[in-house]
Amino acid sequence: MKICVVGTGYVGLVSGACFADLGNLVWCVDKDINKIKLLNNNKVPIFEPGLQELVNKNYLSGRLKFTTNLTDAIKASDIIFICVGTPTSKKNRSADLKYVFNVAKKISKMY
Ligand SMILES: NC(=O)c1ccc[n+]([C@@H]2O[C@H](COP(=O)([O-])OP(=O)(O)OC[C@H]3O[C@@H](n4cnc5c(N)ncnc54)[C@H](O)[C@@H]3O)[C@@H](O)[C@H]2O)c1
Repeated sequence: MKICVVGTGYVGLVSGACFADLGNLVWCVDKDINKIKLLNNNKVPIFEPGLQELVNKNYLSGRLKFTTNLTDAIKASDIIFICVGTPTSKKNRSADLKYVFNVAKKISKMY
């Protein structure tokens, strides 16, 4: 299966690496160009036990790819996971979903 994971933080990067390790082709997308540069240079910007090895293995196999290009990643995928942050809102302490809606809007414009 071809999968797009938007947001390469704790949830997105771990999920993407695990999906790739299960044999899927995974595009991990982030708007943070520095994060994508690090990942494309074999450097995992967060610490999770075993993650560096899992990312390396699947990146080298070609099943795990990193990009800032949401459009291309979506076009190449059957399923899209939105894994961007949902920080606590300053107004009422609920989850601020603006980053999720932002990505959803971009996806909706492609269909
Ligand atoms: N971290 C946890 O342990 C945990 C546990 C349960 C649930 N969650 C939930 O999972 C979600 C993701 O959490 P996280 O900890 O991985 O967040 P994170 O802040 O570590 O990562 C979010 C990533 O999304 C990227 N991003 C934001 N907007 C983007 C956009 N428009 N396009 C592409 N990339 C974009 C950011 O640059 C960042 O790298 C949140 O809703 C969080 O509440 C997290």
